[in-house]
Amino acid sequence: MPKRISLTQYLVEQQREHGHIPAQLRLLIEIVARACKRIAIAVNKGELGEVLGSADSENVQGEVQKKLDIISNEVLIEANEWGGHLAAMASEEMDTIHVVPNRYPQGEYLLMFDPLDGSSNIDVNVSIGTIFSVLRKVNNTRGVSEDDFMQPGKQQAAAGYCVYGPQTTLVLTVGQGVAMFTLDRETGSWVLTQKDVSIPEDTKEFAINMSNMRHWAPPVKRYIDECLIGKEGPRGKDFNMRWVASMVADVHRILTRGGIFMYPWDKREPGKPGKLRLMYEANPMAFLIEQAGGMATNGTQRIMDIQPTKLHERVSVILGSRNEVRRVTEYHLDDA
Ligand code: AHG
Ligand code: MN
Ligand code: MN
Ligand code: MN
Repeated sequence: MPKRISLTQYLVEQQREHGHIPAQLRLLIEIVARACKRIAIAVNKGELGEVLGSADSENVQGEVQKKLDIISNEVLIEANEWGGHLAAMASEEMDTIHVVPNRYPQGEYLLMFDPLDGSSNIDVNVSIGTIFSVLRKVNNTRGVSEDDFMQPGKQQAAAGYCVYGPQTTLVLTVGQGVAMFTLDRETGSWVLTQKDVSIPEDTKEFAINMSNMRHWAPPVKRYIDECLIGKEGPRGKDFNMRWVASMVADVHRILTRGGIFMYPWDKREPGKPGKLRLMYEANPMAFLIEQAGGMATNGTQRIMDIQPTKLHERVSVILGSRNEVRRVTEYHLDDA
């Protein structure tokens, strides 16, 4: 048996070796990890915990909220409020930011999350997850507002996700590569199971919701058409397709064995630049993907360079194996 270390030990070692994880950030990551453990317990109970099905509410994006969307949001807020490491939080399930209440000390970090990603998979017992992104409050004035969150993804101090699947796995970057921790259900601890995660540059696997094909922009159509022709076409190889419809699970597969994931802009809703949200879906995933040697763009621009203008901003997402993402991005630039 290899000698395994815990999340706490990993963070302490990172701090010693690189000195780049301040104490507040370490606390933040440990608290998010603890909250994910609580969410995992609720997810695992399923019908027995009466956590399945929809609530009678909609979020700010007009989606019907599932009970677990709301439960996970509450777990993350409650876990993070009191620690003194945060100034405010923002979430897919909250219209505006949640400022740390006055009764607790204010910290220097800002936390954003998608409390439950893959809501359409909850009731059918397919992998779902939690995504989070951490920024530093750069403006040192008193108080905190949405403006403090308007930082491009390249300024993230940390990002990660937890996937609730056959195993519960926490995937993390603090800007020094990507590490994975598997939850040991018997001891309740996060155990480092992979570090220096690296995505192969090439792949034969793509992930996209094919039912939207008729709405795609020409560069996306061209790329997928070429994959579908396979060996006989310009790519000279056959491709396979996977679409879990939980971004967390699709990205986890790509970090594990490579691939390309796309949720591109399409003509369905012309005013919207895409379906996925920049601040708590695209940016944290882009950070992880780049830290593992992959690439993430919106078709024309690096995702982490985008200057956000609002909390729930949407974005077109193309990420994964470097050579494939580069190709799709070139097709977009050719078309422009
Ligand atoms: P969420 O459940 O947090 O709202 O996110 C769902 C997202 C993402 O996880 C997934 O890739 C995508 O929606 C699936 O969309 P389709 O149902 O259109 O395939
Ligand atoms: Mn949702
Ligand atoms: Mn999501
Ligand atoms: Mn969600």
